[in-house]
Amino acid sequence: MEIDVFTLFPPAFAWFQSQRHVTNTIAQGHRLSCVNYRDHTPLGAGQVDDTPFGGGAGMVLRVDVVEAALRARYAIDPVELCRQRRVLALTPSGRVLDDALVEELAAESLLTLLCGRYEGFDERIIEHFTSDQVSIGRYVLAGGELAAMVICDAVLRKLPGALGHVDSAIEESFSRALEGAPEYPHYTRPAEYRGWKVPEVLLSGHHANIRSWRLQQARARAAQRPLP
Ligand SMILES: C[S@@+](CC[C@H](N)C(=O)[O-])C[C@H]1O[C@@H](n2cnc3c(N)ncnc32)[C@H](O)[C@@H]1O
Repeated sequence: MEIDVFTLFPPAFAWFQSQRHVTNTIAQGHRLSCVNYRDHTPLGAGQVDDTPFGGGAGMVLRVDVVEAALRARYAIDPVELCRQRRVLALTPSGRVLDDALVEELAAESLLTLLCGRYEGFDERIIEHFTSDQVSIGRYVLAGGELAAMVICDAVLRKLPGALGHVDSAIEESFSRALEGAPEYPHYTRPAEYRGWKVPEVLLSGHHANIRSWRLQQARARAAQRPLP
């Protein structure tokens, strides 16, 4: 998989790119790159945004700047590009990221993520240069960088070889293995702490009983915390 993140702040991704599951996927031949809109702006003095028509607070990311950055990277018209690969605009009001969308994105071989800043995108960017809008929740962040990292994190850990243990991503919250339910509780040593005991079944070594207890716990959690 090749993921390109368009941002005004590529250094923000340095920590994320050094995380083990990310370096594991890179070692497997996947790619995660950042493109700085500012490096390709056709405007003077590194300008990338402008005041909104009609007035109002904040600055809006310009459509010509985003087109220049996309063309520099892909050498085709961005209108055509978003018919050939998923180009996601990160917006607070987009489709809310969930495990189903993560699975969908993890099945793509090419992904482009556009981070907004300030007041957001000129609407023509969203309309003509992107295939989808994705939100990481119904709240407003200062920029798309954290949202892009959340998406990349969730998507990359689905790829084979990302995690130390292959089973880690198979049986976890919202997975098919758990019927879409939240994961069951985990415990580790000590088996008793301040009188709080680990459920007996987990110490029994009886794998079928443990499996059935875990599934029942996951179902109980799903009933207690229904998904929106
Ligand atoms: C301050 S926000 C702009 C908010 C916009 N004026 C609005 O009211 O919808 C700046 C940028 O942060 C990103 N962003 C903010 N919240 C987000 C969220 N919940 N999910 C995804 N991206 C988000 C988007 O890229 C957005 O363009």
